[in-house]
Amino acid sequence: MDVAAFRALEPLCWRAPSAHNTQPWRLDHRTAEIRVGWDPSDALPAADPSGRDLWLSLGAFVETCLVVAADAGLRVGFVPDHCAEERRVGWLRAAGSRYDSPFGAAEVRGRRTHRGRFTAGPPAEVVAAVDALAREVGGAVRVVPDADLLARLLRLADRHLYADPAVVGELRYWLRLHPGHPDYHADGLTDRCLRLSRAEATGLRAALAAYPMLRRLGLPRLLGTAAGNPLALGGAVLVLVGPSELDDTGMVGLGRVLMRVWLTLHAAGVAAHPLSQLVDAPTTRDALGVVLGVPAERLLHVARVGRPAGTAPPSARRIGGIAHAGH
Ligand SMILES: Cc1cc2nc3c(=O)[nH]c(=O)nc-3n(C[C@H](O)[C@H](O)[C@H](O)COP(=O)(O)O)c2cc1C
Repeated sequence: MDVAAFRALEPLCWRAPSAHNTQPWRLDHRTAEIRVGWDPSDALPAADPSGRDLWLSLGAFVETCLVVAADAGLRVGFVPDHCAEERRVGWLRAAGSRYDSPFGAAEVRGRRTHRGRFTAGPPAEVVAAVDALAREVGGAVRVVPDADLLARLLRLADRHLYADPAVVGELRYWLRLHPGHPDYHADGLTDRCLRLSRAEATGLRAALAAYPMLRRLGLPRLLGTAAGNPLALGGAVLVLVGPSELDDTGMVGLGRVLMRVWLTLHAAGVAAHPLSQLVDAPTTRDALGVVLGVPAERLLHVARVGRPAGTAPPSARRIGGIAHAGH
């Protein structure tokens, strides 16, 4: 394959989404095929002990690479070859034809996580379209019907998240709550993307700095409440359900489906705001499973979805970003 031509496209490939915007993927171009691996220092062992979000993010990256390459006229395919010891998920290699996708560079560039207000939920035909994508691999996309229950579950899930010092430590590490942060334009979650005012960002920084001391005095409950209720910002909550048997290779495949889902939503003028805490906390994951009539372990990803009221700010990237234009 034309490795040099593909390398020129990599800044756009890096627009793929990843949990906490850690960008865990790594490409190795030393051979005629490009090895797709990951760096464990960009994994989230506390927040994501099963690796679920790591595999989903790597799958989203693979799908993005294929879409971007095809749009540039390159014939590139992906061959899964999962090896945990060697930190590899597979290979990008020359293919007989261009990857077949209705999407291109424009959708990859334009898609953004949107944590703000939605003016309406996703149209029924868009939900049907993303459900059909998941069904191709034995999964489904389901709408959670009970808004009151969801609000209660989200409060529980937030409290669960903020009660674990290791999870909070990881979150704190990836938060960039001030433009002066050295990695503000490189990775992680910025105050702008999280839609925090200057005062809110300062308050959150102070609360997280005091966390070790205040943990026993009810800070987790306070932080959980301060997170607010994103469900009040409109939209519907969709759940990506996986097939019944799913190994790590399958999870990366589901990450590719997740990316196709997000690109489909974006092309229809609909944005997504993931709420992974709902499937991270065992209690809320079980409750969602009961509501949907699906075994809890098949629930892979949850997001609030709808028509955004405005434009979301672009998230940072290590390559191709404003601060890294010279790379
Ligand atoms: C597997 C996965 C899980 C995610 N979980 C959350 C989440 O729980 N809450 C959230 O606000 N964003 C979540 N995100 C969105 C990422 O934070 C986002 O993709 C990243 O910051 C890059 O921003 P972008 O999507 O606008 O390019 C998740 C993304 C992925 C791929």
